[in-house]
Order: sequence, then structure tokens, then C-alpha cells
Amino acid sequence: MDHAENPEQAWPRTAAVFGASGGIGRALVTRLAARGGQVYAGSREGAEPAGEGTTPFAFDLTDEATLAAAAEAMRDFPPQLVIVATGILTLPDGTGPERSYRKLDGAAMGQVLALNTIGPALIAKHMLPLFARDTRCVFTALSARVGSIGDNGLGGWHSYRASKAALNMLLKNFAIELGRTHTQAIVAGLHPGTVDTGLSEPFQSGVPEGKLFTPEQSAGYLLDVIDGLGPDDSGGVFDWSAERIAD
Ligand SMILES: NC(=O)c1ccc[n+]([C@@H]2O[C@H](COP(=O)([O-])OP(=O)(O)OC[C@H]3O[C@@H](n4cnc5c(N)ncnc54)[C@H](OP(=O)(O)O)[C@@H]3O)[C@@H](O)[C@H]2O)c1
Repeated sequence: MDHAENPEQAWPRTAAVFGASGGIGRALVTRLAARGGQVYAGSREGAEPAGEGTTPFAFDLTDEATLAAAAEAMRDFPPQLVIVATGILTLPDGTGPERSYRKLDGAAMGQVLALNTIGPALIAKHMLPLFARDTRCVFTALSARVGSIGDNGLGGWHSYRASKAALNMLLKNFAIELGRTHTQAIVAGLHPGTVDTGLSEPFQSGVPEGKLFTPEQSAGYLLDVIDGLGPDDSGGVFDWSAERIAD
């Protein structure tokens, strides 16, 4: 991928968003590009969003070779910020989220875990080696408040909750591992709020007035949170208002 480096560009000089076709991912790409940096915008089609400052790339969470290829293509001008904005709540065939253990289906659970946990972990596997050891680099994945075990008062949504709880554990593991060699690196989970996207659309009826964010709003909040994170925050999960969510 070709880039002209601009030394005046504020952090992040380069960012990569996996999930640029999603509601929140697309808004993140737009906001990051508007800051003047270079943005690698990854989607399954590899074709959006096109625009000044963005370089589209293709990947599929279930095909590790595409993740390795994406990282390789960024090697000469690596991102200082990686955001994994992919995720699934309801399967494409309409299955889920399960409200009872009676509804569990092994194959459906496997798909949710493959997309929400294993895919982001494999993105980390291929992207974290691109981080410089001595400069501020941030790896974040969109998690969810419902992935908190300590905060779980309602139950339900078994596969989704479990997939996000496991994602949070992996992020914490990666933070510990990376912290041994990269003093300025941060690995964190982010809860975007309840956001008006295709993922939340079937579940928006109970959302209180004013609590359903537009993707643009959420993306703005999330970038503010990321800007405020320091190495001591690495391993944590933070909501859109920068409040740390219980493990
Ligand atoms: N919206 C909310 O209220 C809310 C609340 C809490 C947490 N979150 C989290 O925020 C993240 C983004 O959610 P969203 O609301 O923006 O959802 P969304 O609009 O449905 O976007 C989901 C994204 O994941 C991508 N994706 C799904 N399967 C993939 C695969 N196999 N390979 C590559 N990409 C794949 C989709 O790509 P395609 O376009 O190709 O399908 C899309 O870009 C998720 O992790 C979600 O759990 C959202």
C-alpha cells in the first residue's frame, strides 16, 4: 500500500479499522480520515469506504490467511492504532441471541465464538507484531458491557456474552504479554454504548430516550476514549464515557 508520510500528522499517523462496512466501523473510518491520518479500511468486500486518506483492504475473520495478508500489506507503513469493529449478535440465518440454556446450539455457539472471539484474537496475532516498541500504539476491539462477568445481573444472550467475556480475557492476556516489550503499547476493549446499527436494530425498543447513539456519535466518543488511554489502562475494558467496566 502506498503512502506519503506526513511528519506533522497528529497521532495516530496511521490507523487500521477491521469492520469498515459495519455501522460503527464505517463511522470510525470517516472520523479518523477527517483527522488527516491514513486509514486502512478493512471489510469482507475490501471496497469501502473509499475516500481521501483511506486505503481499503479485504479480510474475513474466518480465514486467517486474509488476516496475515492484510498485516503484510501494512508492514512498510504500519498502523499506530488498530480497531477491531467487527462482531455478531444474531447469526445470518436469524438464530440467537439465546435467552435460555434450553436454546443453546453447539454449532451456533461456535459461529458466534469464531467471529467475536477467535477472529479478533487472530487479528491481534498478525497486527501486534507491527507495533513499534518505543512509540504509542493502541490495539482495541469493540467488546460489550454484557461481556463483563461482574456486571452481569440479567443473564441471557449466552453465546454473545460468553464470546465477549472470552474476548476481554484475551485482550488482558495480550496486554500483559505486549507490556513486557512495548512500554508505550495499550491493548483495550471498548463498549460503544447502544448504537443504531444493524446489529442492535432488533433490540432497540427498550432503549431509554437519548440512549441510542448514532454511529457517528459513538465513533466520536470512542476516539476520545482511545485518545485518553495510557499504558496503565492496558488490559482494561472501557465504555464510551471512558468508565472502566468491571471484569
Ligand atoms: N450496536 C450496538 O449497540 C453495540 C453495542 C455493544 C457492542 N457492540 C459491538 O460493536 C461491534 C460493531 O457492531 P456494529 O453495531 O457496528 O455492527 P454491524 O453494523 O452489524 O457491523 C458488524 C461488522 O462485522 C463484520 N463482520 C461480520 N462477520 C465478518 C466476517 N466473517 N469477516 C469480516 N467481517 C465480518 C460485518 O461485515 P459485513 O458488512 O461484511 O457483514 C460488519 O462490518 C461489534 O463487536 C458489537 O458486538 C455494538
